[in-house]
Amino acid sequence: MVKEKQPAKRYLIREAEEKDLPVLVEFLAKLALHVSGAPHQSLKEDESARLLEVLRSALPDGNKQLVVAEVPGEGLVGMGYIYVLRSQGIWEQTSHVEFRSAFIDDVWVETDYRSLGIFPDLLRKLVAFAEARGAYELILEYSASNKEAKAAWSRLGFKTVGVRAAAFTSSVQEALANRP
Ligand SMILES: CC(C)(COP(=O)(O)OP(=O)(O)OC[C@H]1O[C@@H](n2cnc3c(N)ncnc32)[C@H](O)[C@@H]1OP(=O)(O)O)[C@@H](O)C(=O)NCCC(=O)NCCS
Repeated sequence: MVKEKQPAKRYLIREAEEKDLPVLVEFLAKLALHVSGAPHQSLKEDESARLLEVLRSALPDGNKQLVVAEVPGEGLVGMGYIYVLRSQGIWEQTSHVEFRSAFIDDVWVETDYRSLGIFPDLLRKLVAFAEARGAYELILEYSASNKEAKAAWSRLGFKTVGVRAAAFTSSVQEALANRP
């Protein structure tokens, strides 16, 4: 059977470079607003500078990879970030063992470019990076209210393995007051 030719992709996925960083800070600001549900606002200058530094420090780090999606002639339309953490076994009874996990963070695709395959292509590159460093477990966090994230990660097989809970001190105080 002749395989149908896939249409050429309009975007390319590549590692981030220094020149990309200001746009990536804008993406991080949009991601933060998306997660909090807050209306559009601008980052404080020192927070922009801090984020720029955090991103910049990832570029030369062999355990971190910052990836972007770019539409030639239009600019950056997405980003993703992964870093590998190593930890040593903690039990006396087990021989020396090193665990490696890869943490995915800061995944963003511009609204007009969603559902085009950019997200899975970003992920392909991030997952290849993790495997190349011997990290076969992927970990990430997303807010329970983030419907897009829930849909995207569930589709890729991510399952909830923990719960982050929050409460106001006043309501905990009230609950404690009603306890014997
Ligand atoms: C998460 C994100 C990167 C996915 O990008 P994408 O290009 O839309 O990814 P996909 O094409 O794989 O998945 C889109 C699917 O999610 C589903 N989806 C999108 N928005 C949804 C919503 N609000 N509720 C439920 N499902 C939703 C749709 O079923 C869609 O499927 P379709 O392709 O059949 O239309 C993108 O939505 C995004 O940038 N969201 C905001 C940032 C964010 O939440 N990042 C993750 C933080 S951990």
